Amino acid sequence: MEDIISLAKRRGFVYPASEIYGGLSNAWDYGPLGTILKNNIKNEFIRFFTILRDDIVLLDSAIIQNPLVWKASGHIEHFTDPLTDCLSCKKRYRADQLIEDTLSTNVEGLSTEDMTKIIEENNIKCPECGGKLTKVSFFNLMFVTHIGPIEDVTNIAFLRPETAQGIFTNFLNITKSTRVNLPFGVLQIGKAFRNEITAGNFIFRTLEFEQMEIEYFVDPKDSDKAFEELFEYNSRWYDHIGIKKENIKYVELSDTERAHYSKKTIDIYFKFPFGFKELQSFANRSDYDLRKHSEYSSKDLVIFDEKSKKNIYPYVIEPSIGLDRLFLALLINGFCIEDVSGEERIVLKLSHRISPYQVAIFPLVGKGESLNLSRRIYDDLKLKFRCIYDMGGSIGKRYRRQDEIGTPKCITIDPKSLEDNMVTIRDRDTMKQDRVKIDKLSEYLNQCFI
Ligand code: GAP
Repeated sequence: MEDIISLAKRRGFVYPASEIYGGLSNAWDYGPLGTILKNNIKNEFIRFFTILRDDIVLLDSAIIQNPLVWKASGHIEHFTDPLTDCLSCKKRYRADQLIEDTLSTNVEGLSTEDMTKIIEENNIKCPECGGKLTKVSFFNLMFVTHIGPIEDVTNIAFLRPETAQGIFTNFLNITKSTRVNLPFGVLQIGKAFRNEITAGNFIFRTLEFEQMEIEYFVDPKDSDKAFEELFEYNSRWYDHIGIKKENIKYVELSDTERAHYSKKTIDIYFKFPFGFKELQSFANRSDYDLRKHSEYSSKDLVIFDEKSKKNIYPYVIEPSIGLDRLFLALLINGFCIEDVSGEERIVLKLSHRISPYQVAIFPLVGKGESLNLSRRIYDDLKLKFRCIYDMGGSIGKRYRRQDEIGTPKCITIDPKSLEDNMVTIRDRDTMKQDRVKIDKLSEYLNQCFI
């Protein structure tokens, strides 16, 4: 993790937020390269799930919604974590995690009284200072704010803890304003906020993060089949962006582990340096949300089914992934330190589909016709590929710089290029070099980036 955090800062992927003021725990900013990488992941996710299929549409809903949304969804009542404090050093812990870490037992679904009893009977103390722990109580994870100049209970609002609810509340708008019919999905990417008791591990668990969620609406009787089909397509997403198979594992949740709305959930775990941890949750949310919002809003969130000629409440299959967590997974998945003739080479093996740049262009000669040729090649290629132009330092140094940020191909224009109209293309992973005709460059690169 230290290598990854250091690379992320050194190369402008991720910085500690408000660093000049001493930072803020669990808040991070994305730098120039991080922003490009994040946008590339989002764009590729949208391409994979909407353009390469034709049954999923897009939405961008508000972060602050009517508070009734969170009452109907169950977040005000259920979106809680069990909290215990150290009486001596005042450090806060998630009681379930503390018990699980200490006793290796799953306490999902237990009451606060039961967890307090387990802590007392097993003499579990503060891991930091050995102090006595308080009784366990539930703590709601939603960030509260107030609308308008005066703070009181009448103008309370919440920052959304998931993007999903904006999709449910727009269900009628979407079915009425588009030509969607069951089965269809709605994809939304956006910020979510959770007042986590124990955040940490770099950008793995933060207070503010982005989710990429799809709510896929299906006829209830087809929901098991739809779950399997979308799950299979979703698994291909990981191949598509180059996540190694051995870094992924699937864990089906038991009845007590599932969220209150879920009929079936499979969590997709990634092998982080601190163990296999959840990267994505994949759930059958049944008709829970649409029925709840119908009840609270008195609007029937149903769709007319042409086959049965009836109004139905569809079931919802939900793949939900944290963009920041996927970003971290991709850095870890691609990070390699290689030995090249006794020298260390740091390489970020990112798929060309998401790497910040796909092609780096290196003029070897910094003046005259050769430089003009380099510039012409860059100006032409940047219309078709994500390109960077780098004139600084020895060619070896330029290769290392691009290796570290994951650029798959580097093109060098040397003095001979003016004579033979050819350039050298070097591959990031194999370091193999090819000599390619300048007028065949786009064709060559297109072949590489299928
Ligand atoms: N709508 C369903 C939902 O929100 P979740 O399992 O609570 O389900 C989905 O969250 C994903 O969001 C997680 O798998 C994770 O990738 C990401 N996520 C959740 N909390 C996070 C946090 N505090 N920081 C970063 N990512 C988080």
